[in-house]
Amino acid sequence: MSLKNEDFSSTDPLIFNRRLSVAPMLDWTDRHARFFMRALSKNALLYSEMVVTSAILLGDSHRHLRYNSEELPLALQLGGSDPKALVQSAKMAEEYGYSEVNLNCGCPSDRVQSGRIGACLMNHKELVAECVAAMKAAVKIPVTVKTRLGIDYQDSWEFLADFVRTVDAAGVDHWIIHARKAWLKGLSPKENRDVPPLDYAKVLRLKSLLPSKGFSINGGIRSLDEVQILLQGTHPVYAEVQNQIISGTKLDGVMMGRGIYENLWILREVDQKIFGEKPTAEPQSQKEYLLSLEPYIAKQMEKGVPLHLMTKHILSLFAGQPGARKYRQIMGEQSCATAANISILKRAVGAISS
Ligand SMILES: Cc1cc2nc3c(=O)[nH]c(=O)nc-3n(C[C@H](O)[C@H](O)[C@H](O)COP(=O)(O)O)c2cc1C
Repeated sequence: MSLKNEDFSSTDPLIFNRRLSVAPMLDWTDRHARFFMRALSKNALLYSEMVVTSAILLGDSHRHLRYNSEELPLALQLGGSDPKALVQSAKMAEEYGYSEVNLNCGCPSDRVQSGRIGACLMNHKELVAECVAAMKAAVKIPVTVKTRLGIDYQDSWEFLADFVRTVDAAGVDHWIIHARKAWLKGLSPKENRDVPPLDYAKVLRLKSLLPSKGFSINGGIRSLDEVQILLQGTHPVYAEVQNQIISGTKLDGVMMGRGIYENLWILREVDQKIFGEKPTAEPQSQKEYLLSLEPYIAKQMEKGVPLHLMTKHILSLFAGQPGARKYRQIMGEQSCATAANISILKRAVGAISS
């Protein structure tokens, strides 16, 4: 296997647990954000932003696929519906050392719909099954699918169950279900993350339909307490659907998106609370954490990465603390200056009073 990634370490990318994953988020979960997340949890499974197959196959593939070895375990999310292009992209993902390749069947944006990518694929179950089967035959890493509960007026249980059963038969290794449907017309991608109501019950029913298959639930989960009760089977939704699911049904994983990105600090408790590890000594405080990122940021700046492209991910780190506004202002404004340098980090942290 030829590894083209920079400074690839011996970490085994295939050993990981899906109890908690961080959602793929375009413009948010880039390699810098993921590096910052990994500094707080070594176990959470991280996802890339969605990368469309044409960007990998026709564009600068290395720019889209490179990552820091510290980010592992790391899944690459692909956008596409051409089996050949997905196979080629999945093979490249495997060669780069990704832990998993995930197919996006949940993004509702107009731009991707026109390329038959994302949530609109829920209307093409046979094609999705073909894509999954082709990728499964081509790579050894897990092939997973992230999807919604339905699209537009196709939001019945029968429609969802039929889609998942058909695609699953092609060999999906794990499902991630964003527990709301998407409106393909009339709502922006942002509105599509909040407006259609969440329905966790349907995710449990899917798990009960295919009990031997792994299912992660996603959508609206903001705290690790919620993650715990969803995994333990004590969340109220279990009682709500007890007559519709096999007794003992439990979800295998929880995927959190905004709840983590907007409150990165939550990740420091994940290894202990969700993965059952012993508490570690570091980092003790947000300040200590931020300063521990300095060598990485400095190294990336030497390579030509503008400071603001990294600091944008840590603007809300001190939210709610005295001085947070000032911190955010210094980080936000001064990182964008042409002469921005790493000393801004210390200056910004200085605004935090505690
Ligand atoms: C800024 C942003 C970008 C997103 N980009 C993607 C993406 O590239 N692929 C994807 O499958 N979902 C994407 N999503 C949806 C999230 O993965 C997730 O399904 C959604 O935010 C619901 O989870 P949450 O309530 O925990 O945030 C994005 C969400 C946000 C906020």
